[in-house]
Amino acid sequence: MKMAKRIENLSPYPFVEIIRKIAEKRARGEDVVSFAVGDPDMPTPPHIIEKLCQAAHDPANHRYPETAGLPGLRQAIAGWYQKRFGVSLDADKEVLPLIGAKEGVAHIALCFIDPGDIALVPDPAYPVYSVSTMLAGGNSYYMPLTEENNFLPDLDIIPENVLKGAKLLWINYPNNPTGAIADLDFFNRVIKFAQQHDLAICHDGPYTEVAFDGCQPLSFMQANGAKEIGVEFHSLSKSYNMTGWRIGMVVGNAEMIDALKRIKSNLDSGIPQAIQHAAIEALTGPQDCIKEHNTIYQRRRDLVIDMLGSIGLEAKPPKAGLYIWAKVPAGYTSADFASDLLEQVGVVVTPGISFGKGGEGYVRFSLTLPDAGLVKGLSRLAKWRDTKNKFRPKR
Ligand SMILES: Cc1ncc(COP(=O)(O)O)c(C=O)c1O
Repeated sequence: MKMAKRIENLSPYPFVEIIRKIAEKRARGEDVVSFAVGDPDMPTPPHIIEKLCQAAHDPANHRYPETAGLPGLRQAIAGWYQKRFGVSLDADKEVLPLIGAKEGVAHIALCFIDPGDIALVPDPAYPVYSVSTMLAGGNSYYMPLTEENNFLPDLDIIPENVLKGAKLLWINYPNNPTGAIADLDFFNRVIKFAQQHDLAICHDGPYTEVAFDGCQPLSFMQANGAKEIGVEFHSLSKSYNMTGWRIGMVVGNAEMIDALKRIKSNLDSGIPQAIQHAAIEALTGPQDCIKEHNTIYQRRRDLVIDMLGSIGLEAKPPKAGLYIWAKVPAGYTSADFASDLLEQVGVVVTPGISFGKGGEGYVRFSLTLPDAGLVKGLSRLAKWRDTKNKFRPKR
């Protein structure tokens, strides 16, 4: 058997390995507290489930769906963008439902990247931007996100020869893993830059609805000219606790959306229609659940920040998103710290290095576990630190 080179270059998805380790420990009867994956622990709201059950009973929804999605879903997405962001979208040309944002994020590389082409990718970042670039035969140029720059890329330092070969520019705000948010001025600068260098922009924004302290994160589509040059990926996963149903969307530039639709119509057979009906209900039905979830996440954020502070791990409270980006103690790499935590106290965090070299020096705590779990995990960390007198790597 001779596998393709791309398989040799493809590491297992970081969370698969983490989930495997957790399962192994749990199978041995060990109690593991996991702060690893950003998978909401709260259930999908009941009115959405109710709609899904109703739709599942309708034989019209038992057949192949269309790639473009139900017209009603495209209209619901356009209506939600109008209501939430004041952005007008043509439901037929500028909206495409996805099997979760991840699917679209992965497939769009096939629309732009030929062998040898470059995608500009933030570092640290959600790993799929660079992996999909690699699978398409392209190369990622990594734009460092540093605390000094508020975790926004410095576009001015990208070398001219890189820009000549670049076709796509990835951004993601509210940002995973750093928790940073972007303002309109940043989005405007990105658009101007992309116009100058003939780049298409992909903004990945699945966390705009998870926000605290009254913050209302922006859609990239609110920036002038966004639709002429880019698209935005979004999702119902985090907004409505719907990770398990696999439903998201991409909106914006009609040409980019048409290209993605062409790829998808050749590769997948659409989104199960009952799930599309559930998504329509989520987007057009009562929105109280978002505020309710955010109240819970904000309480968890404060709890984690307080406890990390008293343990001596430095982290800033994010205004949005599901994550706390905390600095690892001196002397540790992020992987060693995460590994010691798992082996010695059964607490799982995601090492920053899983998000790229720029994530080194940090670990990510997800807020998607109940308060009791958060307290249990962080108390173990505190006790561990006390028994060691302070954090010190054992090697
Ligand atoms: C930045 C980012 N983009 C996209 C996704 C994927 O979302 P979905 O569940 O819609 O595929 C995630 C999931 O964690 C994410 O963090």
